[in-house]
Amino acid sequence: MIELVFATGNSYKIKEVYEILGDSFQIKGLKDIGCTEEIPETQGTIQGNAIQKAQYVFDHYGGLNCFSEDTGLEVYAINNEPGVDTAYYAGPQRDANDNMNLLLQKLADKDDRKARFRTVIALILNGNLHTFEGIVEGEISLEKKGNGGFGYDPIFIPEGYEQSFGELPSSVKNEISHRGRAVAKLVDFLRAI
Ligand code: IMP
Repeated sequence: MIELVFATGNSYKIKEVYEILGDSFQIKGLKDIGCTEEIPETQGTIQGNAIQKAQYVFDHYGGLNCFSEDTGLEVYAINNEPGVDTAYYAGPQRDANDNMNLLLQKLADKDDRKARFRTVIALILNGNLHTFEGIVEGEISLEKKGNGGFGYDPIFIPEGYEQSFGELPSSVKNEISHRGRAVAKLVDFLRAI
């Protein structure tokens, strides 16, 4: 059985990936390998940060097979903001409501509200780096709608839908979302080895 460390402290994300991968892989979280320190994310890009987190685990924890993910919301009319600052757009407290309010304020006079979520997964397997990207295109709504999901879900309407991620059932979101698509690529790769 292949053992993989998922470089995240978010047990929900670990469970999600474990359920998709099934029993042929054992997924461990950071706590399981005794990693409690904050892993640096200083590369200034989504891809760079994803690689940095996986590389950190590989370098500091004995060359373990591992993967990490990083996600950003990119709004075209404002130079792809918040991008790499998505989690703490409105400040270090990482408050989802403050982040959404700031974004709605910045788009108040914009007609073009198109945006995308982008996830990059970085996998280091047997010392080799592989990356997988997942994207969902959509637009930022005029106001918050629904209270499902997390982060910016109430103001993101995926292309082809009228409801926000906050209103859509999680099964629909997971199928079409940036993270769902990136995880699907990771799973295809791992199943083929
Ligand atoms: P992370 O890298 O997956 O932790 O995501 C960084 C930030 O992006 C989070 O703090 C959220 O604000 C936002 N984010 C990531 N994924 C989603 C999502 O699926 N819906 C809404 N917001 C998200």
